[in-house]
Amino acid sequence: MDTPTKQPTPAEKWDGLYSKGAAYKPLSPLLLKAILDRAEQMTGHRPDTALDLGCGTGDSMSKLKAAGLKQVSGIDCSAVALDEARQANPDCDLTVADLNELQSSDFANRKFDLVMCKLTVAFLKDKAGFLAAAKGMLTDDGILCVITPVLHEGIEYAKEDKPGIAVDYRGFSRLLNENFGEVTELHHDYFGDKGDTVTFLAKS
Ligand SMILES: C[S@@+](CC[C@H](N)C(=O)[O-])C[C@H]1O[C@@H](n2cnc3c(N)ncnc32)[C@H](O)[C@@H]1O
Repeated sequence: MDTPTKQPTPAEKWDGLYSKGAAYKPLSPLLLKAILDRAEQMTGHRPDTALDLGCGTGDSMSKLKAAGLKQVSGIDCSAVALDEARQANPDCDLTVADLNELQSSDFANRKFDLVMCKLTVAFLKDKAGFLAAAKGMLTDDGILCVITPVLHEGIEYAKEDKPGIAVDYRGFSRLLNENFGEVTELHHDYFGDKGDTVTFLAKS
């Protein structure tokens, strides 16, 4: 009988990709403005502090700082990505941790006005557990912002659309609405030719 092959841990998988130069679509200035404007509409003020979950090499963190946020922190499982993120963001607080165990990370007891998660949630095993942990890291009127490619029921996606990097739109929306009092969506650009991308903003 064949011995089952050992699956790489998230850290092994992503360190391998970043070591080969992996890079992801940067946060567009237009989308960042739309996120900050919508967050302000939902809370009555601009966020001062942010945490980027799955921050990768730190592009979103640099842009959040440039947009005026006072303190920006990041978590990623890839030490390789964080080395790069640290060079670009020497004043940000960065931690290597597995988001599948967010509730037991060093950050679990800290609170942020904005918790971002861009192009990452599709890779997490327990999305309900992740959302509950992320919610626990928000200030009283804090905003969770999840940017993710989505798949729509009834649409057949081509292999090039990379269904593995997307979440089911209806199921993920339902999960957010079960966990948060107010959920709003920006259906913005198309992710190149890789299907629809949605930004969800959620508040307790
Ligand atoms: C597609 S990349 C996006 C990176 C970044 N958010 C961006 O938009 O450039 C997905 C990121 O999620 C991180 N990631 C994936 N699974 C993770 C996990 N279980 N724990 C922590 N980080 C994870 C990867 O290391 C990678 O940096």
